[in-house]
Amino acid sequence: MTFDRLPKIAPSILSAEFADFGRECEAIEAEGADWVHVDVMDGHFVPNITFGPPLVRAIRRHIRTVMDVHLMIAPVDPYIGAFADAGADVITAHAEAGPHLDRTLQAIRAAGCKAGVALNPATPAEAIAHVMDRIDLVCVMTVNPGFGGQSFIPAMVPKVARLREMIGDRPIHIEIDGGVTPETAPLVVAAGADVLVAGSAVFKGGSVGRPGPYGANIRAIREAATAACRSHAA
Ligand code: DX5
Ligand code: ZN
Repeated sequence: MTFDRLPKIAPSILSAEFADFGRECEAIEAEGADWVHVDVMDGHFVPNITFGPPLVRAIRRHIRTVMDVHLMIAPVDPYIGAFADAGADVITAHAEAGPHLDRTLQAIRAAGCKAGVALNPATPAEAIAHVMDRIDLVCVMTVNPGFGGQSFIPAMVPKVARLREMIGDRPIHIEIDGGVTPETAPLVVAAGADVLVAGSAVFKGGSVGRPGPYGANIRAIREAATAACRSHAA
């Protein structure tokens, strides 16, 4: 994985057809996805259950690009090895998932993955102040985690700007997760985000048999984000 701040679109397979994950991953990649975002939920840290390491390993065979694994589970540490072995490139754990975030982040890197930390909407940017040297990505939750299709929380935009300031020149991605659309993407990109997770906004209107809408949806988000990125740099 190389580092740059160009806007990247990471479709979340939470909005894909669960019985056809392999072909769904191939379809979104063919239609222009930069990363593939994989949401793991445990029914304990969040009120929903998705899947675990065996499924992540199975879909890895259908993904050529970066596999970005978002762990909405507690505890996290006992499962890091299994998700790394399953082929995750990035493993993101929640700051709220346990008392030993620094240890969790060290364990993710020790397992050979890039380390991400996700912040729930009520968690301040400052939660990462003392783990800056341990992270490759911060994921700003712009909805409360657990479900796709929720509305973007606008109060998260100043948090993104604050994180961008704190990060400075460090090679740390700012990822946005929840309610990303062509309308909301420019707000967060202008504030400093560079990885945009999008579930419902990417998968709407398409299917593996008819993946064209996936491509159109990805392009619409990318175009809105890139325009905001240029105007931010100007
Ligand atoms: C929510 C997940 C997201 C979700 C986003 O807990 O972490 O990745 O799939 O879905 P949309 O883009 O529909 O808000
Ligand atoms: Zn996610």
